[in-house]
Amino acid sequence: ERGIRINPSILAADFVNMQADLARIATADFVHVDVMDNHFVPNLTFGLQMVERIQATSPVPLDVHLMITDPERWAPGYAELGAASVTFHLEASAEPITLARRLRSIGARAGVAVKPGTPVEGLFDVLDEFDQILVMTVEPGFGGQSFMPETMPKLRLLADEARRRGSEVWLQVDGGIGESTIAQAAEAGADTFVAGSAVFASGDPDNAIAGLRSAAAH
Ligand code: DX5
Ligand code: ZN
Repeated sequence: ERGIRINPSILAADFVNMQADLARIATADFVHVDVMDNHFVPNLTFGLQMVERIQATSPVPLDVHLMITDPERWAPGYAELGAASVTFHLEASAEPITLARRLRSIGARAGVAVKPGTPVEGLFDVLDEFDQILVMTVEPGFGGQSFMPETMPKLRLLADEARRRGSEVWLQVDGGIGESTIAQAAEAGADTFVAGSAVFASGDPDNAIAGLRSAAAH
């Protein structure tokens, strides 16, 4: 059976009770950490200093999603503080392969993300340079938006290509993932699922994670 990962996004957590909210998602595979710079996306979250404290506090490894310009400058710092994976946006990177190699050399999984309108064919020949590819299923910037089913053909292309090449790259989706949308993303080839509001808006985050896990497996 193929692995399924559920990565709750702490964008939907209580920022002044972060430690308590991290403790409520102990059954997650990774904690998804959305870094926004109010430039690449029209919203602002937190940076290295905050993520360093989250890393020190979280019982679950970190999956950092950088929605920032100039990832060449900042991404290595997240790998150095111990994040399990660091994903930067293809649209923001001048040298994606060089940056992915740098992240791996520091010891992190290297991820690349694409916005809904960005084609993925350019990644086919370099799949091996990445440990995970994030297909955004909303326009990045905000939680609580609706899943965009029109992104699924792109995910299918990546999944077919990965299978054809015998690649073990993880295919991640992020945005509008909940019990009613996760199955179609799984069916299109995703194996790693980010969910913010679906996990934290529920009264029982670990129970929501279990529900997502079983919905993805069916
Ligand atoms: C959006 C972020 C997502 C966000 C998802 O730009 O990258 O990780 O937290 O939130 P939901 O699951 O509520 O759509
Ligand atoms: Zn994200």
